[in-house]
Parts: sequence; structure tokens; C-alpha cells
Amino acid sequence: MSRFRTPLLSVALACVALGNVLPRQSSNASLAQCPGYAVSNTQDDGSRFTADLSLAGSACNVYGEDLTDLKLEVEYQTTTRLHVKIYDAAQQVYQVPESVFPKPSSSSVVSTGAALAFTYTESPFSFAVTRKDTNETLFDSSAASFVFENQYLRLRTHLPSSPNLYGLGEHTDPFRLNTTNYTRTMWNRDAYGTPIGTNLYGQHPIYFDHRGASGTHGVFLLSSSGMDIKINDTDGQYLEYNTLGGIIDLYFLAGPSPKDVSMQYAEIAGLPVMQPYWGFGFHQCKYGYRDVYQVAEVVANYSIAEIPLETMWTDIDYMELRKVFTLDPERFPLEKVRELVSYLHEHQQHYIVMVDPAVAYQDYPGFNNGMDLDVFLKRSNGSIYKGAVWPGVTAFPDWFHPDTQTYWDNEFLSFFDPDTGVDIDALWIDMNEASNFCPFPCDDPEGFAEESGNPPKPPPVRNNSRRAIPGFPADFQLPTSVKRSISLRQVNGSGTAVGLPGRDLLDPAYKIKNAAGSISNLTIRTDLINYGGTTQYDTHNLYGTMMSTASRDAMLARRPDRRPLIITRSTFAGAGARVGHWLGDNFSDWDHYRISIAEILEFAALFQIPMVGTDVCGFAQNTTEQLCARWAMLGAFSPFYRNHADYQSVDQEFYRWATVAEAARTAISVRYRLMDYIYSHLHRQSTNGAPMLNPLFFEYPEDSNTFGIQYQYFYGDSILVSPVTEENATDVSIYLPNEIFYDFWTHEKIQGTGSYIQLNDVPFTSIPLHIKGGSIIPLRETSANTTTELRKQNFLLWIAPNASNQAIGSLYLDEGNALEQPATSEIVFTYDNGAFKMTGSFGYNTTNVIAKITVLGGGKSTNASYLYNEQAGSMTINGPVPLNKEFNLSP
Ligand code: GLC
Repeated sequence: MSRFRTPLLSVALACVALGNVLPRQSSNASLAQCPGYAVSNTQDDGSRFTADLSLAGSACNVYGEDLTDLKLEVEYQTTTRLHVKIYDAAQQVYQVPESVFPKPSSSSVVSTGAALAFTYTESPFSFAVTRKDTNETLFDSSAASFVFENQYLRLRTHLPSSPNLYGLGEHTDPFRLNTTNYTRTMWNRDAYGTPIGTNLYGQHPIYFDHRGASGTHGVFLLSSSGMDIKINDTDGQYLEYNTLGGIIDLYFLAGPSPKDVSMQYAEIAGLPVMQPYWGFGFHQCKYGYRDVYQVAEVVANYSIAEIPLETMWTDIDYMELRKVFTLDPERFPLEKVRELVSYLHEHQQHYIVMVDPAVAYQDYPGFNNGMDLDVFLKRSNGSIYKGAVWPGVTAFPDWFHPDTQTYWDNEFLSFFDPDTGVDIDALWIDMNEASNFCPFPCDDPEGFAEESGNPPKPPPVRNNSRRAIPGFPADFQLPTSVKRSISLRQVNGSGTAVGLPGRDLLDPAYKIKNAAGSISNLTIRTDLINYGGTTQYDTHNLYGTMMSTASRDAMLARRPDRRPLIITRSTFAGAGARVGHWLGDNFSDWDHYRISIAEILEFAALFQIPMVGTDVCGFAQNTTEQLCARWAMLGAFSPFYRNHADYQSVDQEFYRWATVAEAARTAISVRYRLMDYIYSHLHRQSTNGAPMLNPLFFEYPEDSNTFGIQYQYFYGDSILVSPVTEENATDVSIYLPNEIFYDFWTHEKIQGTGSYIQLNDVPFTSIPLHIKGGSIIPLRETSANTTTELRKQNFLLWIAPNASNQAIGSLYLDEGNALEQPATSEIVFTYDNGAFKMTGSFGYNTTNVIAKITVLGGGKSTNASYLYNEQAGSMTINGPVPLNKEFNLSP
């Protein structure tokens, strides 16, 4: 396996390398001897409480040095949000800057009006958060003494036994977290294969604690420090933060429903950004498309196979020897790439390419322009810090530098110039944990790059005797080769560190369980100082999100009027306000197919990054016809839907196998017909944070059978997705809560009883879907080959009444692409025992109508407008019902 990175070997090398560095000795003291802090100088104005905390005995200095003077600030920020902040009195300790994570707006409320209450014990200091109306303790830090050292913080809370905890990503562990001997490490990492139990690409230190009928609350620790969050029951049930630094910056969210917690978290993390309508179309990608002609062939093949393809992607293959902001002059010549893009645009299709942060340390404009603005990270001796990534030796942009945005904007404006460059419609950013193939200490990046074969030799250029690509011009031909020369340039010095002085930024005494070994291994070394003085030690986990923001701004600089769709690998809390995410390098196996459901739910429903999807059919290793068919179906019910594979994996475009092609046609057709339904949900989430995908317990918070379910979920509020999860199986046992459901495909009415039912004969080309009683689903009358065509189709409404013969639904309409929408419609549909109503706002001008309204599951009405279909057991109202005004139908 030569992906030009060797994780196991790298860890081994890192350990050897660390042997040369003197590890900081921890003292003999144990955490049990830590004295904690004592409270003094309290002040309380009813909505804000402040106090001083001073070390209550002799320092224990277990993993560094105890800080003696701290400040406590407690604020009742809203009726449902309580903020508890503990920081050093000298204010030297690193805090996540507002430029990366803006402070939530708050209008302090008086504590008596708040849902949560803060109480504390003076010495040793501990605090508790209780839910006032039930008097239930939600958080209680008396579980262990509080430790605040220069390179280690510990805060532990008691929890009730066997709690239902969710979140704390990014991970591939069970959706409901283990509560025994469990450690969730957060340190963003290039995690090939996304192994269970390890730290992956993103940092989201929020958990949901769901207590059934007593309510749900959320706890968010705003920290970018590396950390281990330990959950165990050895000393009573507890959850414990162990961080490498930063402060305690906790937000308690009162719920009381799980959806409330999501919405309250969106108030802090930021509302997710609205995406272009076409972004919900089907996307195709593969690492290893050898040239623009092969990319064109894939586009043509989708068309021949009659599988709608909305967007074609190109991985790093388009680059000249993998250098960002270059094109391979032979395999991806500019003229041909522009022809490809024009072809796609003429066919209402889109084009996306990848951009990595690591810039080849070579004499070429992409690097030189960065040098001119002096925006690359440097070592303490002033030399540019070098790693090795895809193009060989690389430099890394310092996103804290005030000129990095200019650099990035300029590269985007010239390389992606719509008139003269690669006219991309959206962007894919990767390797931004940041990934570095060169193991720490990476003293010889040149040697390493050469030995590991980066950049690899590109595939031989094909001769011109290729067959014509259907639909493409006959002169889609290969040009002759171009040579480039290389010479390196000199650079200036680097700054001084801010943050607590005297820390060991490479090898802190407390070792988080980073699966890559030392915190500097296989990434940018952590003793580097960013512009302005912060360190990589403190900001490592922000790198991907800062790149995301810069990239979004650069995309907006190109096309200020369009919503930028950006898919990133690395994320930090709040990233959803700017970008979407794909789940990174999974394997083409059933485990990854299954766990993708929980991961997608975490991002969409818990972390407020709803534009999320996985590599459908799997990235690494070889998929199979059956797995790919099932995944084509399942993937259609994630917000972001893309088939992507590794360069050594078998080709897995949906048209490669008959079963997969059939599954894909069905999947894309249903997805497209439901596109306005899900787009409306994204719009709602971008407005108030109510999640567009829902775990079962979000809909049934008091049904304890739902708490551990991770292979079924609601697409939107109303469509229960229950995929077959086992290889070779055509049956699946699914849980139906106590509610009326309607089979999506047959409209058969099924009374759920809060138990499992067995579904048999589920072909590889289908997926069980059920509509929840009480819902009204807008669908397009027919699917289409592109989302542009889809938008011309009329609508249907399916009314799925609940036990009281009522239902509700909504539809959001806009133009789909513009950053500022001139006119929108937000239509609410209600149905109550035969009375149907359309209310709301109708600003968006459309000639589309509702062609037909169907009430599923029978029930007769005396109104002659309803046609009763005895056989189908349904009533219909034949349209057209225009979508530009209110409409009423009496029973
Ligand atoms: C990383 C990405 C993967 C991509 C590859 C080459 O592994 O996660 O999606 O194909 O790099 O760019």
C-alpha cells in the first residue's frame, strides 16, 4: 500500500525521535494530592457572578505548574444558557479568538428567570449546575479536585449511572457513547481508515446528555486544546476533561428537548450556512483520474447510463506534480479543462476541484506569491517551516497572518478566474488538520519526500489514438509537454510566542491519546509560532476551520453573489457557519457503511454542520457491487451525496455494475423528488438550528428504546430511513415507535407499536423508508437529469395523517444560488380532519404548481373536491394549486 504515508512506521519513528528530546519530568505528586482552589471576592449582580479562585494548598505540579490565581465568571446569558468561565487572573493563557469563534450574542438575564441554576462550594471550589424545574443536578464538579496547570487542566463531573451521552466528535465510535473506560481524544489528525476509538479530523467538544422524560441538556467546552475526555464508572459515573491547556469555557444548554439543545448550540456555534440548491445533486469523484479526457469520459458515461450527474470533481490529479494552483500541462491542459467546464455548464452540470493548504516549496507563482507576502509558517530561526505532503517538500500558510487572506484571494482570483482559469462552481479543501507525511521531527523533509516518492511520477501521457468521447468535441486532443525549472528563495524571521511562557510545546508531560503518537507527529510541529505570537500547540485544532473561512472568503471574492459550497475535511466547532464536511478516508467495507450513519447524524444534528456526507461506496480498498448498491441508496439520504474512491481502488462509478446503476437511478430519483423537502429543512436549520436530520430519540425523547438506535434516522423530520445493514441480507429488523407510519413506496399504513418489525425481501436496489404520521411532504412530480431541470417540475403533496387525523409540513422556495435572496416563499401546510390550508409567505415568483394532493391512508371527506380512491385507500385533490397564494379547503 503506497499512499505515500506510512502511519505505523511514522509513529515508530516519532517515538525514536522523541527519545532525543528530553521529556519534561512530571513531579512525584499525584492528581489526588492536588489542593484545588478556594473562592474569595465574590460579586453577584443577579445575572452575573464573579469570584477569585486561589490555590488552596501547596501546588501539586503533576503535569507542569499549578496556576495560583484564577478568575471565575458565571453568566446567565439567556433563559436556557449558562456560561461558566474559569481563566488565569493574569490572562496569559490562550483563549480561542473571536475571529475564529465569535462570542455568542447574549442578553444577560436575571438568574431567577433562568432554567438552570449555578451553585458552588467555597473550599475546595467546585460547582454544580441544576435544572430548576426538576431540581436535577446536570453537572457537578465536586467529583474530583479541579486542576489548572500551565499544560494540563482537569475538570470532572459526576453523572448519573449509565447516562445517554452523544457527541464529542469527530469519531467513528457508537452514536451513544460508551460510558465505561472510554477516552475521546481530540487532536485533529489525518486519519486514514478512520479507525474506531481514535481521534479523527475534527474537534467538537460538545456532548448531549439525554435523560429521557427528565429532559436533555448540552455541555460545550470552548477549547481548541488537545484533550482527552474520559468517561468512566470506576469512581461513580463521571465525565472528565483533561486538556493540554486553554481555559475552562463551558456553556450549559438547558434544552429541555434534544432539538432544543441543538438549536441552543446553534446560537453559540453559529447557524449553519445555506447551500446552493444544486449542491444537493449527485456528485462524482475519484482520486486517480489520469487526465481531463478520463474525467470527460466519466461525465459521458453517466449520461449514457442515464444516471443523473450534477457535479464532476477532480482530485489533486489535475495539478502539475501536485502543486496547488497549477494544472498538469499535459494531462489537464488549461484549454481542455476550460472546455470540460464549458461542456458541464452547457449541460447544467457543475465542476469542483480540490485545494490543499500545503504549498510546494518550489519556485512557482503559487509559492512565490506567498513568499512575497511572507505568509508561511516559520521556525524559530526564521526559516520557512517545511513538511512533506503530496507535492514533496511544502510550506504551510499561517492563517493568522493578516496577509494570508490576500494571498489566498489572489491565488483564487487568478487560478480560478471564470474567464481565463478553471471556472469551478464550488470547492473541496483537504489535508487541513494539517496533514504532514513527514514524521516528527522531520529534520530532512527533502530526504523524506524523495524516499516516500512524493510527488509520485504522474501516469504516462496517453497518445492521441483514443476513442472519441460522446458529446465532447472531436478535437478534445492532447498537447505537447512543457518543462519547468526550479530555484529556491530566501525568507525573513519569525515572531515571539504569546500565551503562557515556559511551556514544553513539543512534549507536554500529560500525553493525550493521539493515535499519531506525539502531538507534533504527522502534522505541523506544535512549537511553531503563528503571526501575532500564538502557537501551533494552542491553535492546531483551528487550522482547518481557519482555512475554511479564508477559502470561503476567497470564493466570495471570485463570485460575491453566489453561495459558496465548500467541503472541508478538518473542522472545529462552529465550522458549519461557513462550510460543509465529508467524513474523510473511510474504507469500502460494511463497518464504514454502517458507522457513516452515526457520523452524519453527529455532524448534522449535534455539531451544526449539516452539509455532510461520506465517500459513498467507500474510499480506500475495493468496494463490491452489493455494498456499492446499498451505499448508493443510503447515501441518497445524506445531505451531501458523493461517490469518491482512492486511486488504487477499483473504479466505482455507479454505472460500473448493473445493480448499482439501477440502485443509483432509483436513489437519485427519490432524492431529487424530495430535494425541496430537504432543502426546506436546511433552510430552517440555517434560520433557527432545528436539525435537518434527526436521530430517533430527537423525535421520541421519552421512548428509551430509541436512545441507542444508530442505524435508523429521520431524513428531515418526517422520513424514517431504515437501511439494510448486513452484507448479503435482504431483510432488516426496524424499530417503529408508537406512531402511525406509511410505507414511502407503497403508501401502506402501518401502526407502529414501539417494537421491532421485520422487513423481508428488500432488494439491493431499494431502501426502506417510512413517512411519519402527522407529516405533509412536498415532492416534485417527477425527477430530472439535473437540478436545473428538476426545478421546472411541479409539486405533489403527500399528507400522512397521524392518529388524530392531522398533519403539518412546510416548503421553502428561493432562486437557489444567490447569496442574498431577493424573494422567498415559506409556505406552511396544515391538514386537520379533511380541512387543508396553505399559509405563510409567497414572495418567490414561480409558475410551478401543486399538481395533486394525496391524503394517505384513507379517511373520507364530504367535500366534493376530494376524490376517494377505494383501492389505494387514499383521497386526492387534483390541482393545480398555485404556489403564490394562500389556499383553503374545508373538510
Ligand atoms: C486525502 C483525502 C482524499 C483524497 C486524497 C488525495 O486522503 O481524504 O479524499 O482523495 O487525499 O487528494
